[in-house]
Amino acid sequence: MSRIVVENLNIIKKTDLGRDNYVIDLAPFSKAGAVKPGRFIHVKIPRTDVFFRRAFSVYDINPGEKSISIIFKVLGRGTALLAGLRNGDSLSVLGPLGNGFNLPSTRETAILAAGGIGMPPIYLLAKKLLEKRFDKTKLLFFYGGASGADLVDIRRIKKLGLKLLPATEDGTLGFKGVVTDAIRDKIATADGKFRIYACGPEGMLKAVDRLAGELRMPGQLSLEAPMPCGLGVCLGCIRPLAAGGYTRVCREGPVYNIGEVLL
Ligand SMILES: Cc1cc2nc3c(=O)[nH]c(=O)nc-3n(C[C@H](O)[C@H](O)[C@H](O)COP(=O)(O)OP(=O)(O)OC[C@H]3O[C@@H](n4cnc5c(N)ncnc54)[C@H](O)[C@@H]3O)c2cc1C
Ligand code: FES
Repeated sequence: MSRIVVENLNIIKKTDLGRDNYVIDLAPFSKAGAVKPGRFIHVKIPRTDVFFRRAFSVYDINPGEKSISIIFKVLGRGTALLAGLRNGDSLSVLGPLGNGFNLPSTRETAILAAGGIGMPPIYLLAKKLLEKRFDKTKLLFFYGGASGADLVDIRRIKKLGLKLLPATEDGTLGFKGVVTDAIRDKIATADGKFRIYACGPEGMLKAVDRLAGELRMPGQLSLEAPMPCGLGVCLGCIRPLAAGGYTRVCREGPVYNIGEVLL
């Protein structure tokens, strides 16, 4: 695992994707080339009255220009303040944090399951796999949301040229229903040939965990938790483990094997 650094990065580009979703590209990050999909950064909101850093999955990387990108939806005060920043503004970034995904074997088909704004680590995993010449036909990118408008930055995913399978609860785009039903619709039995990776809202992760258990499909989930320190010290992010005891999502996670954490 690469060393954790704290660096002041400049916003080199802010993109307004509409409906309160933004992408921010930050540079120069000395660890840009070392970020594994699933790892995250802890960002200081540049206001003295906002104490806790906020966690964001690394969404995209451009090692050539030492830049990393995050994508976020404005939910509360922290993200509203981030959305108000401009190109050239500086942000203190701690990272890269967390463990990241293990890659599938070349024999397996990777089921990539993203839900809403939980899409970034799944996108980066897909991109990394393609860079490593993973067979495109063995990557199925399921992307679920309540409605078509909740599937953000779809153009970037499409550019990867892999099989994108949208699922929307209202049926406005792709499969009508939740993402786990879309997966079930495609895969009757895992037969040792599939590996699943998921990130999204807690309800979706629970459903993926259950489905993967039923189909005996190995895989990993990327979890979220409140993250005051991000460094394994405060225990603000602990979750119970299926085998007993607790785990610190910021340190041992945020990526866990199917069935490992009690959801
Ligand atoms: C590993 C990880 C990856 C994530 N990746 C993304 C991502 O890629 N995109 C995305 O949009 N969101 C991501 N999130 C969620 C993100 O960190 C924010 O929690 C979320 O966007 C809420 O935004 P906010 O800061 O506007 O909320 P606020 O309303 O400002 O904060 C929510 C509430 O939680 C409290 N709080 C905020 N941060 C912390 C903290 N660190 N510790 C304790 N309490 C806190 C605040 O005081 C407030 O009461 C991720 C979270 C984790 C743990
Ligand atoms: S956020 Fe402090 S221990 Fe994980």
